[in-house]
Amino acid sequence: MIRYITGGESHGKGLTAIVEGLPAGLFIDLDAINLYLSRRQGGYGRGKRMSIEKDQVDILSGVRDGYTIGSPVSLYIENKDWKSWQGAMDPFHIIPGRAVTMPRPGHADLAGGIKYDQHDLRNVLERASARETAVRTAVGALTSLLLRELGMGLYSYVVSIGSVGIPPGILPMKTVGDGYLKRLSRTAASDGRMMNIPDARTSAQAVALIEDTGKKGDTLGGVFEIRATNVPVGLGSYSQWDRKLDGRLARAMMSIQAIKAVEVGDGVMNSGRHGSDAHDEIFFSARKGLYRKTNRAGGIEGGVSNGEEIVVRAYMKPISTLYRPLHSVDVRTKRPVRATVERSDVCAVPAASIVGEAVVAAELASAVVEKFGGDTMKELRKNYSAYAAYVKGY
Ligand SMILES: Cc1cc2nc3c(=O)[nH]c(=O)nc-3n(C[C@H](O)[C@H](O)[C@H](O)COP(=O)(O)O)c2cc1C
Repeated sequence: MIRYITGGESHGKGLTAIVEGLPAGLFIDLDAINLYLSRRQGGYGRGKRMSIEKDQVDILSGVRDGYTIGSPVSLYIENKDWKSWQGAMDPFHIIPGRAVTMPRPGHADLAGGIKYDQHDLRNVLERASARETAVRTAVGALTSLLLRELGMGLYSYVVSIGSVGIPPGILPMKTVGDGYLKRLSRTAASDGRMMNIPDARTSAQAVALIEDTGKKGDTLGGVFEIRATNVPVGLGSYSQWDRKLDGRLARAMMSIQAIKAVEVGDGVMNSGRHGSDAHDEIFFSARKGLYRKTNRAGGIEGGVSNGEEIVVRAYMKPISTLYRPLHSVDVRTKRPVRATVERSDVCAVPAASIVGEAVVAAELASAVVEKFGGDTMKELRKNYSAYAAYVKGY
């Protein structure tokens, strides 16, 4: 099992994570991790904060001469903005007078303030902020190195932003194959605004919508999809509720700030179909072995990966901080006010899609280590190829 925990406040000194359970002997490609971090920082509609931060990971433990050594890997990302916030965020001496008392609807501000008896709501919003996803992305990037060594791939793309969505047919909900996805991913990456939208026209429409929405002081959410390719059959298990792979992926995705619904495969559409149109029939040929013609299940049946692409969609609510703020109440005076405005994004769906990739990577890597053994990469590779041979002959 690979587990991790993160720490750090949005405007504190930095963000940390400890990742435990990575096998020894995994090559750590620092450039690949930092590339992930820069992808998370992209997208049109981000606030000024993203131009201040240039996220780079520092590895503090668990890696020696470029390889993991079996001990916990500690990650650190500096918050460059800390310099301007030290007066408000210093662990021991803060300059009083900047308390946040007007909770923003849609954020943890009010519920968190009551729960932890905090009357300066900065003590809540600093940790609840999605700045935390920077270090979660680093964890995901780190664990994706393990998946990469075993030949698995991960892609994401934005399906829609507000009312603007990619036209039907661009991405049919069935197995589209590695080459197709790589092409899509290249198109999305070549978009200078890093919208992660695999269609140039839709991307331009989304940018215009974000611009217009921002001018009105409003915000947007949207939908994105993660696909994992070359995932072996047999990850996760039907035998216990907390081992089901779909359950684990849904939990990981829902834990991303502002994600309010998760769908595996054709989950939502299938609920309105007949069974005859909802499942993936099984075929056999001497060349392909056992195979499916469709992938409506999104690569998971009974909580177990079935060898098809894993397809997970996430639905993100609009950003909760509005420059034309919503009604709220000052928790000190109990008078009606407009909510606090904290420097903010208009839309963060493209960024969230990269975070989605990262959390899926961490969950899949953990399931891989559980199935194939995780002390050393050598052992893992050997078990993995023996299993692949067994599956072929099943
Ligand atoms: C990558 C990313 C960036 C975000 N940026 C902002 C932001 O700038 N301002 C904001 O108010 N919310 C932002 N959010 C959303 C909030 O973090 C989220 O609405 C809040 O934590 C409450 O979400 P919850 O109800 O899902 O916990 C962002 C979310 C993500 C995933």
